[in-house]
Amino acid sequence: MLELKDVNTFYGSIQALKSVSMSVQKGEIITLIGANGAGKSTTLMTISGIVRPASGVVAFEGQDLGALEPDQIVATGICQVPEGRRIFPYLTVQENLDLGAYLRRDNAEIHKDLDYVFTLFPILSQRRHQAGGTLSGGEQQMLAISRALMARPRLLLLDEPSLGLAPLIVQQIFEILTQINRENGTTIFLVEQNAYMALRIAHRGYVMENGVIVLADAASALLENDEVKSAYLGV
Ligand SMILES: Nc1ncnc2c1ncn2[C@@H]1O[C@H](COP(=O)(O)OP(=O)(O)OP(=O)(O)O)[C@@H](O)[C@H]1O
Ligand SMILES: [Mg+2]
Repeated sequence: MLELKDVNTFYGSIQALKSVSMSVQKGEIITLIGANGAGKSTTLMTISGIVRPASGVVAFEGQDLGALEPDQIVATGICQVPEGRRIFPYLTVQENLDLGAYLRRDNAEIHKDLDYVFTLFPILSQRRHQAGGTLSGGEQQMLAISRALMARPRLLLLDEPSLGLAPLIVQQIFEILTQINRENGTTIFLVEQNAYMALRIAHRGYVMENGVIVLADAASALLENDEVKSAYLGV
C-alpha cells in the first residue's frame, strides 16, 4: 500500500533520513520505533509531504507522492495525527471534528463517521461544545485521532500518541487503535518511543537509529529480540 524506497531527507546540511526503505501492506498496523532524534517524525512528514526528500520515492497505492501537495496527499487517503496533537484549542470539540472532514462532501457519511468517533470516545460526545484547549491531554489525543478519522483515511499516520499520557490512558488509546484497524481495515503507521506498547499492538515493526533502519521484523519477534530488549524495552 505504501512504499518508501531509498529516501534521503535533509534539514540544511543535516541528513535526517539515510536511504530509508519501508513498506506497509494494506490492513496492517506497523510501528516505527527509535530514540529521540532518530528520524521518526521526519519519516512521517516525508510521507505526508510536509518535508520533501532530496532523493528516493514515496509511493501510495502505486502513485508517486513526490509531485503532490500535502492537501492532495490527504485527498489520496493518508491522514497524519501530528506529534503534540495540535488540535485547535479555541474551537469546540465539534468544530475540530468538522475540520477533519473539510475535504469531504458526502454529508450523510460524515454524520455516520461522527457517530462512530463518539462511540469510540464517548467522552468527546459529552464535551462536544467545549473548547478543545480545555480538554485533558488524553482527551486531546482522542480528539486528534478522531479529527483524523473524520477524513476517513485509509492510511492513518500517528506520531507518538502516548507522549505525556498516563499508562492507563495510553492503554485505552492503543486498544482503540486496534479496534479502528480491526473494524474498518484502516492501515495504521504508528511512530512511538513507547516501544513496548507499540510492538504489542503492531503486526510488524521497524527500528530506526540516526536516520537508518537497523531492524525490520514481525512485532512479536522484535519483542523477543535481545538488542531491542536492552535498547528499547529496558529489560
Ligand atoms: N526543522 C528541523 N531543522 C533542523 N533539524 C531538524 C529539524 N527537525 C528535526 N531535525 C533533526 O533531524 C533529526 C531527526 O529528527 P526527528 O524529529 O525526525 O526525530 P524523532 O525520531 O521524531 O525524535 P523524537 O522522538 O524526539 O520526536 C534530529 O537530528 C533532529 O535534530
Ligand atoms: Mg518525533
